[in-house]
Amino acid sequence: MRQAFDFYVHMRTVCHLDQVRQPKVLDFGGGWGRVSRLFLRDTKPRNIYLAETRASTVQLLKDLNAPYTVIHNAPPPPIIGLPNDLDLVFAYSVFSHLSEKYFLDWMAYFLNVLKPGGHVVFTSRGHYFIRHLQHLHAREEAADPTLAEHIRRLKQMMPHPDQILRLHDAGEFQFYPIGGSEELTPSFFGEAFIPEAYLKKHFGDAIINFTEDVPRVDQSITVLRATVRSYAVTDLITA
Ligand SMILES: C[S@@+](CC[C@H](N)C(=O)[O-])C[C@H]1O[C@@H](n2cnc3c(N)ncnc32)[C@H](O)[C@@H]1O
Repeated sequence: MRQAFDFYVHMRTVCHLDQVRQPKVLDFGGGWGRVSRLFLRDTKPRNIYLAETRASTVQLLKDLNAPYTVIHNAPPPPIIGLPNDLDLVFAYSVFSHLSEKYFLDWMAYFLNVLKPGGHVVFTSRGHYFIRHLQHLHAREEAADPTLAEHIRRLKQMMPHPDQILRLHDAGEFQFYPIGGSEELTPSFFGEAFIPEAYLKKHFGDAIINFTEDVPRVDQSITVLRATVRSYAVTDLITA
């Protein structure tokens, strides 16, 4: 919750959310709603849309009587039942896991469901996680069998962290199809690293903020501002 709160405060500040009355927001890949719930102080519960692709998480939200508008979406766009006048779309620790194709398709989709001047805020893997991987690689075999298995899997499924760092600093989008639980198949889910240079190349001036320095948040945070025109995926790819 502390991570979620610092992320929320950052969004509020960069997007000037205090100036928006009753904002309509989408928590994409919202999990159990740790970020969504913070918006209950800003807007009516029905203005908070939480989209999730794992059926078990959607069931958990129902069991919790989550007051938001919960939508069970398929892994690729669109999200059925979403309005197209949102003030904010955010995704905490979701694009740290999705493939490049999914990333670009979802960004194009979000930019089309936002009001002009609305924002997309998302996190991804960056230098913090690469340092963590370097640390894991350097350590001796872990005594805890779960941790040992985790390290073995990371070493097997991803290149050496020094290589990841080189590609990251060269501006490459990196996706390693490790997969996750339940519906999160390796066809689109794993570990994703998105460098600032890649984002600048694809989104240009739409990026109004990029940081890896928000307290307690161990991922990069990017803020995009939607302009009047709509985007198509091809615009993003050829930009
Ligand atoms: C690491 S969790 C983060 C959950 C939440 N944002 C949080 O910070 O607590 C990633 C979440 O994204 C969801 N997810 C992954 N791919 C998705 C997709 N294509 N559409 C919607 N949700 C997705 C997963 O089911 C999972 O709940």
